[in-house]
Amino acid sequence: MAFPESFLQELKLRNDITELVSSYITLKRRGRNMVGLCPFHGEKTPSFNIYTENGSFYCFGCGVGGDVITFVMKMENLDYVDAVKFLAQRAGMDMPEDSYDDSMSRLRTRIYEANREAARYYYKILNSPDGKSGLDYFHGRMLTDRTIRHFGLGFADDDWSSLCDYLIGKGFSKNELVAANLAVRQRNGKGVYDRFRNRVMFPIIDLRGNVIAFGGRIMTDEKPKYLNTSDTPVFKKSDNLFSLNNAKNTGSRTLILCEGYMDVIAVNQAGFQNAVATLGTALTKEQAMLIKRYADEVVICYDSDEAGQKATARAIPILRSAGLLIRILTLPSGKDPDEFIKSKGADGPEAFRALIEKSGNDVEYRLQKLRSNYNLNTPDGRVRFLEEAAKVIAAIYSPIEREVYISKLCKEFEISKDSFQRQVNSITRRKNREDRRNEVRKIQNDLSGRGDRLDTEHVKKPRSSSAEEALIAYLIKNPDSVGYINERLEPERFQNELMKRYYSYFSDRISQGLDPLNNLTADFSEDERSRVYKILSKHSTIAETRSALDEYIKTINEESRKLNKKDLSNMTAEEIQEYLNSGM
Ligand code: UTP
Ligand code: MN
Repeated sequence: MAFPESFLQELKLRNDITELVSSYITLKRRGRNMVGLCPFHGEKTPSFNIYTENGSFYCFGCGVGGDVITFVMKMENLDYVDAVKFLAQRAGMDMPEDSYDDSMSRLRTRIYEANREAARYYYKILNSPDGKSGLDYFHGRMLTDRTIRHFGLGFADDDWSSLCDYLIGKGFSKNELVAANLAVRQRNGKGVYDRFRNRVMFPIIDLRGNVIAFGGRIMTDEKPKYLNTSDTPVFKKSDNLFSLNNAKNTGSRTLILCEGYMDVIAVNQAGFQNAVATLGTALTKEQAMLIKRYADEVVICYDSDEAGQKATARAIPILRSAGLLIRILTLPSGKDPDEFIKSKGADGPEAFRALIEKSGNDVEYRLQKLRSNYNLNTPDGRVRFLEEAAKVIAAIYSPIEREVYISKLCKEFEISKDSFQRQVNSITRRKNREDRRNEVRKIQNDLSGRGDRLDTEHVKKPRSSSAEEALIAYLIKNPDSVGYINERLEPERFQNELMKRYYSYFSDRISQGLDPLNNLTADFSEDERSRVYKILSKHSTIAETRSALDEYIKTINEESRKLNKKDLSNMTAEEIQEYLNSGM
């Protein structure tokens, strides 16, 4: 079951790709196309291309490509059916009835509903006699009732089935509860029991206001301290941040990045709503890209212990390459933000504000760490420190920022600005050269097909594969050539299996009078779909003439006759005859 072709056609017509993408990122015109910084990976030079002629996009940096639907799927984290619904709504179109497979979308909706009901239930229990230990726990941690309500905190009581009983009574099936990870199946496979028991509960809410998961904290020293929802059809912990739903509304372009639930909540209660936390994993580049959509600057506010410092060091390059400015807040030793704020009593909010204001950027932080590695009382120690410091400064993107640090250090160490500047410049130049070379090498490597996991045949048979690819791009862009091509080229001539599949598929669709790119989702995997757009992208600037087409056809036919000796052994008599006649 798929959407009607005419519906998809209209959906794409009414959702202009350039207009849609510009609502998320800034685009610049380049020739007939538009380019911008890719929203799916961090980069400094734009390699995200929009091809207005066929309503597609492709990023040379990360290899993601597709149409408006693919873009919405990635950007809004939706499955295919929900992305289509999103676009239909945006364009004011009605969804066609019952023509599509809605089962995944329906399950996701049910999981959202079950989570919402569960959050309400946990909240209700917290505020009932059964939840007294939970409420006492939160009060003991200095949370006000207002904060508890604001975050929708709750309590899962010490019973094996109270949530399951409640939700089943509300019409949810056991399967739905297991899919939501609110329940776990018993070993005998029949019954289910509550996943969270005797824990205070933290709902995790996405940017559209859906409850997508929970964290549950035990109130004793037992392990695990926090239990989190495992990945479900609506939740991937490495792609989400706790409390981003609150933080995104503050109007501030700075986010405070904490390690844990309680830190975010304490920081909020102290008056800073722009705090978020990862969900029990190290910061990922997906999370950094998500932050970049709502902020320009991040204040890292991790625990002052060794683990927190390591996590800080790991987070810096990830945030930097997402294009974020970074500041690092230093807490007194042995404290996390929650403990710090609490330790200051009524002065907590002010004290925390002072720390934020004092927090230096990551360059200062790294220079500070460097200082402690050298003995600055000796000339040798000073020289070696300055050499390393030059490397840190050379890595700064903004020339003005570089200048500020150069001046500062030169004054401090009483050295001439000229020589230090030269040192930094030579590192910067070398680094820029290397970066550019690496970027080019990566794209060249990518285009050559080396290390290509989707299409392993390209490197082995580059000549035929290149011609096959070029032909497919030609066919998609010139659908009226299908008859001409089909007459001269049989699918069996294709040596590359993936290209052969594309060729048969696109020839078929075009022959049926359908738009070749309209409905790729039904027949190809995500990577296979991206690859189609990569091929189109690669050939977007190449002039497509009939004689070029003839050349592709000739090459494919020629190459298919070239068989190596080893293959002779598997040939039928007929094929051997053909082989001999071909004179190869
Ligand atoms: P911490 O151990 O630093 O806890 O874990 P915390 O945030 O200070 O919590 P409190 O103050 O003791 O209540 C930081 C974060 O790591 C994840 C949680 O998201 C937690 O907030 N974590 C920690 C887990 O997912 N599971 C665990 O067992 C422990
Ligand atoms: Mn803590």
